[in-house]
Amino acid sequence: MTESTSSLPTQPSSPQTDSEERTCDHNRKLFIETVGCQMNVLDSELVVADLRNRGYELTDNVREADTVLFNTCSVREHAEHKIYSRLGKLKYGKQRPNRVIGVIGCMAQKDQKTIFDRAPHVDIIVGTGQLSSIPDMIDEARESRERGVAVGLSRKGGSRETVSASFESYDPLREPQMRPSPCQAFVRIMIGCDKFCTYCVVPTTRGPEQSRSPKQIEQEVCVLAEQGVKEVTLLGQTVNSYKHTEDGQLFRLSDLLEKIHPIAGIERIKFVTNYPRDMGNDLLEVMRDLPKVAHYLHVPVQSGCDDVLAKMKRGYTVDEYRGMMGRISEILPDCSVSSDFIVGHPGETEASFEKSLDLIRECRFKNSFIFKYSPRPGTRGFELFPDDIPEAVKRERNNIMLGLQNGISEEDNAEFIGETVQVLVEGLSKASEKAIGKGPVEGPQQLVGRTRCDRITVFDGNPRLAGSIARVMVEDVTATTLIGSIVTEEIQHGSLNVLPILHS
Ligand code: 5AD
Ligand code: SF4
Repeated sequence: MTESTSSLPTQPSSPQTDSEERTCDHNRKLFIETVGCQMNVLDSELVVADLRNRGYELTDNVREADTVLFNTCSVREHAEHKIYSRLGKLKYGKQRPNRVIGVIGCMAQKDQKTIFDRAPHVDIIVGTGQLSSIPDMIDEARESRERGVAVGLSRKGGSRETVSASFESYDPLREPQMRPSPCQAFVRIMIGCDKFCTYCVVPTTRGPEQSRSPKQIEQEVCVLAEQGVKEVTLLGQTVNSYKHTEDGQLFRLSDLLEKIHPIAGIERIKFVTNYPRDMGNDLLEVMRDLPKVAHYLHVPVQSGCDDVLAKMKRGYTVDEYRGMMGRISEILPDCSVSSDFIVGHPGETEASFEKSLDLIRECRFKNSFIFKYSPRPGTRGFELFPDDIPEAVKRERNNIMLGLQNGISEEDNAEFIGETVQVLVEGLSKASEKAIGKGPVEGPQQLVGRTRCDRITVFDGNPRLAGSIARVMVEDVTATTLIGSIVTEEIQHGSLNVLPILHS
C-alpha cells in the first residue's frame, strides 16, 4: 500500500442539527491526523463517522480541538518520529481544558503503553483492532482523567482464533467527507497479514490475516454506490490472498470481483496491494473479462536479487516474479504494473542493487515506491541482520533508483501522446484547488482523474464532470502525469460498458 499523511479537512458536509450544535460546544471538536497507507485512511474515515454520529465536529486547527487523534504508521521509523514530534508540540503552549489526546492504529498496537513514557500527556492508546472503542474511551478519559489502553493480543498471545478475535475488522459507518474524493471510496476486504516478511511490522500491528464476508462487502459497495461513489478500491495487505467460504462456496478475489461487478453506479473497481506468489490466472482472466475492473496491478517485488529476497523471506525468486509478469502481459497486455522496492536492506551489495535496477529496466513498472530499509524492532529482520548499509549509501541508491524509474515512467507515458484515453474524473486538480484558495477563478478549471490503467491525467473542464468518464486526448506527459484536452464534455455516467475503450 502506498503512503501519505493527511491532517484533516473539515467543514461538516451536512447541516448540523440543533442537538449536534449543542453537543459540539461540549468537548466535541475533533482534530485527526492520519499517517500511512490507504488502510489507515479508511480507518480514519470510519472513526470520524463514528464520532460524527455522536456529535463531534471536525476541525483542522489542532489548537481549538478538544479531542486530538493521531492515526499512526509503524512501517518505517520516520513515520513514528513524525508522530512523536507532533505529540511533543502539543505538550507545551496553551492547553484546552479537558482535552483528550489519542494515539491510535499501528504504533499504538506495536508500542502500547511505552508511548506514555515518551509522551506522558497522551490519554488513550488504541490498536488497529479496537477502533470501535474510541468514542467510549474518549468519554471515559475526559471524565476520569485516567489513561486508557486497548490493544490486540500479540501474535503469540493465544490460539490463532483468540488472537484473530482481538483484531476486529471495523467497518460500521462511512463518512463521505473523509474520502479522497466524493466519487471514490476504499472498501476493506481483508485485515492482517500472515506472510511475515522479515523486515515488516504489519503482521504484528494488523494481526492475523482475515477475509471479510462477500455478502457484507457487496452490501457495503451497494451503499457506497447509492451515495454516489463511482470507484471502489478494495483493500487488503495482500488483497489477492483473499479467501472466504460462505454458504458452502469458496470466494477468491476473482469470485468477489464477479459478485460486485454488476452493482449499478459503480464504474471502476481497483484493488491493492497484491502479493506476487498469490497472483493466479483466475484473477487475471476476470480482470480481462470484466470491463469495470481497472487494468492496473500494484505487485511489490522489493528486490531484484534472490539472496536479498531470501533474507526478506518473500517466498519467491526473481524468476518466479518474471513468470508472473509474463502471465500478466499475456492475459492483460495493456495492464500497468507498479512495484515497491526496499533499498539498503541488510546485506544488499552493489551487485544486488544493480540486479534491482535491471529488473526495473526489464519490467518497466508504471511507477515504483522506493523505501530505504528501516530496521523495525519486533521483526525477525531486526533480530537476525545488522543494519549494515550506511545511510548515505541507502540515500544514494534511493536516488539512483528513483532517477531510473522516473525516466522509464516518462518514456512509457509518452507512448500515450496522440491517444484518446477514458478518464474517471475525480475533481479539481491540486493546482486548481490552490488557485481557488487564492480567490475567484473564471472559466474551465484543471481537472484530474485516472485512466483505466491508473495513469493520472489532467485536463481543463467543468468541475461538474467529477464522477463521470471523460474522453481525453493526450498532448503531453511528465513522469507522473498525462496532460490533455477533453474530447467531449458529454457526461457518461454508467456508460463505461458500451463505450469503445480506445486505450486504457
Ligand atoms: N523498511 C523499509 N521499507 C519497508 N516497507 C515495509 N517495511 C519496511 C521497512 N522495515 C515497505 C515495503 C512495503 C511498503 C508498504 O513499505 O516496500 O511494500
Ligand atoms: Fe508486510 Fe510482507 Fe505482509 Fe506485505 S506481505 S504486509 S510486506 S509482511
